[in-house]
Order: sequence, then structure tokens, then C-alpha cells
Amino acid sequence: MTSKRKMSILCVVGARPNFMKIAPIMRAFSGDDSCVKATLLHTGQHYDQSMKQSFFDQLSIPEPDIDLGVGGGTHAQQTAEIMLKFEPVLDELSPDAVLVVGDVNSTVACALVASKKGIRIIHVESGLRSYDRLMPEEINRVLTDQLSDLLFTTEREAEENLQREAVDLKNVHFVGNVMIDTLLYNVDRAVPAAQSLIETSSDQDFGVVTFHRPSNVDDPKILSRLIAVLIEISRSLPLVFPVHPRTEASLRKNSLWTLLQDSNIELMAPLGYLELLGLMKQAKVVLTDSGGLQEETTALGVPCITIRESTERPITITEGTNVLVGTDSAKILSAFDEVMENGGKPGRQPEYWDGNAAMRILDVIASYRDRWGIQ
Ligand code: UD1
Repeated sequence: MTSKRKMSILCVVGARPNFMKIAPIMRAFSGDDSCVKATLLHTGQHYDQSMKQSFFDQLSIPEPDIDLGVGGGTHAQQTAEIMLKFEPVLDELSPDAVLVVGDVNSTVACALVASKKGIRIIHVESGLRSYDRLMPEEINRVLTDQLSDLLFTTEREAEENLQREAVDLKNVHFVGNVMIDTLLYNVDRAVPAAQSLIETSSDQDFGVVTFHRPSNVDDPKILSRLIAVLIEISRSLPLVFPVHPRTEASLRKNSLWTLLQDSNIELMAPLGYLELLGLMKQAKVVLTDSGGLQEETTALGVPCITIRESTERPITITEGTNVLVGTDSAKILSAFDEVMENGGKPGRQPEYWDGNAAMRILDVIASYRDRWGIQ
């Protein structure tokens, strides 16, 4: 009897939140018993040391086999450029499937090219919906799920969203959260806060702030309002703020950077994964508009105040430590007071956020070999 060949899967990453999702998948795919031969492609959407390389190093992600070197630009430019550069790679490799993660421009760009070429698409983190089409990620999520042949979800509600969009549920599999695989795998290696803090004493309580959503940082009125609230909060709790490049550019353009420098908010460049994990672990509260941090704080049991009108990750609210407050100053302050007075909202670990999501993904993919006619 001839042994079956491995399934060839081209795995795509592009931007910072993709890196922690791909790490456990690449590890599972490279295991001794794996039925998959994985090739890793980086689009180059995020390219600099702080946004890309430190994640590859800290999370032991193998260096990409292919780097499209795309870089920044408008959404149309970035998406188009990725598509143009991805097409010849697909022609050359002709993999059994393309695997994409999350909801960034690289995700939808590569899925679209693969679908037109009749190459199967696997989407990890399917079915999350904020129902806010002003978020570029929401458009990326809806389109990628429509194009995908095999869809992996992180929470049960995601399946209901996919059903509403007439996705064939027989190809939808609830496997848990690969981002939490990475968190649990690395939590003991997190860099202690004292090593990242310069101005703030790690002996005292502190909060962590991150935000970069266009809806929060591109409009000067909203941005100034948020900065005013953060400065007010920092009078009772020192804040630590690793600043995303998009946010820094907008803060400087709107003359808010110096205001922050004079406050009780410690500004720093974007942090590595292990540094941010170390800060979050010790934080009294996290204030953010990030999708990933909403999940990570739930896994860590740290209170999270989400400065957005909607979330695509409702389980972090129904089961986790997250509260959604929008950008209204009074609501942000009241959620903050609740943390200071009562310790914030208690939470529990969502189902299957147990560190084994990537192995479940591998098992399901193996079960598709016959269905996909791969000998
Ligand atoms: C992207 C993702 C978002 C994700 C975020 C995390 C989309 C639609 N959005 O948004 O979902 O939460 O990444 O960071 O894909 N830049 C650098 N260095 C880099 C990368 C970017 O300086 O390594 C600069 C760019 O030149 C640009 C800005 O940061 O000015 C924004 O980068 P971009 O990739 O366009 O989108 P993000 O806002 O980061």
C-alpha cells in the first residue's frame, strides 16, 4: 500500500494580530504526525521590527518562505498590491489549500485570489461579526467567510452569524481560539512589567492603554476627547500606553503628543508580545479598542474596558471580563470607577479556550483529505 502524501497548505500572515494566531498553527502543522506540509507567506503589510520581527522571534514562528514585501498604503492600494503579488506565487505553488487567519487586508486579499483560481480556502477565526460595516475588518470578515471552504470558529455564536449569511454549516467547525493557544503557551515567559516600565513604578497599580482603530484615532475631535479622559484617569491610576504607528502619527498631527508627555501616562513604542503580556498580567485594568486584547484580558482574568461602540467578540462580555463603553467620556469614567471600587467585572474562561485549538484544527483538516480528493 502506498502511503498518502502530505496536504500542501500555504499559510498567509500579514499584520501584527495575525502573528500570534499563526504561531500555534505552524507548530501543529510541523509536528511529527502532521498530515500537512505548510509553507508560510508574509504579505509584508506590517514590516518593521516592532510590528513584525519581534513577534516572529519571540513566538518562534519560522521565517516566512515567501515575503511579498507589500508595506503600507490606502486600503485599495494595499489590497490590490497583495493580490497582484500573491497570484504568481499561487500559480507556482498550486497548494491543496490556502489558510488565512483573522480579518486584516491580507486575509481578504489572498482569499479573493485563491477563490478565483479554484484553490480551497481555510479561514481561522471565522464568523466574528461587529455588524458595523464602517470597520474595514468587518468587510474583510464577511467576504473572507463567503469565499472559504473550511471555517474554524472561536465561539459558538460565530456559527449563528455564519448561518445568517447562508454559509454551509457542515464546513464550520468550533475549535476554540488559537490566540489563546499562544497566550497559554507563553504566559510563564512573559517579561515582568518592571523590565518594560521606565517612568511608572511596577510596585504600584497601573493600567494599560492601547488604541489604533481608525474610528478612534483618525477624527481629531474623538481623539482629543479620548486623550482628555485618559489624562483624567491617569490622575488616579498611572497608565502605560504602547502607541501604534497610526495613533502616533495622528497624535502628533493634532498636537496631542506633548500633552500626553506631560501627563501621568507613560508613552512607549509598540511592544513585543512577551512585554505586552507581562504588562497585561500585572495591570489593574486594560483600556483598549483592540480585538485581541479583549480576548487576552478575558483569558488572563484582567478587567477590560473596550472603547468601541460594538464588538465582534461578544463572548468576552457575556462570559469574560470585558465591558463595552463606546467613546462617551462619562461611560468610560464610570466603567473605570467600577474597576477601582469593586475590581471590575468578574469572568470565566470560555469553552475551548484551553490551548488546544490548533491541534483541533489539524485534526479537522486531516478529516477533509478524502472529501477533497487528496490522495
Ligand atoms: C491593521 C489591521 C487591523 C489590526 C492592526 C494591528 C487591516 C484593515 N487592519 O491596521 O485589523 O488591528 O493592523 O496593528 O488590515 N506601519 C508602520 N510599521 C508597520 C506597519 C504599519 O509604521 O510595520 C504604519 C503604516 O505605514 C500606516 C499605519 O502604520 O501608516 C497603519 O498600518 P496598516 O497596516 O495600514 O493598518 P493598521 O491600522 O495597522
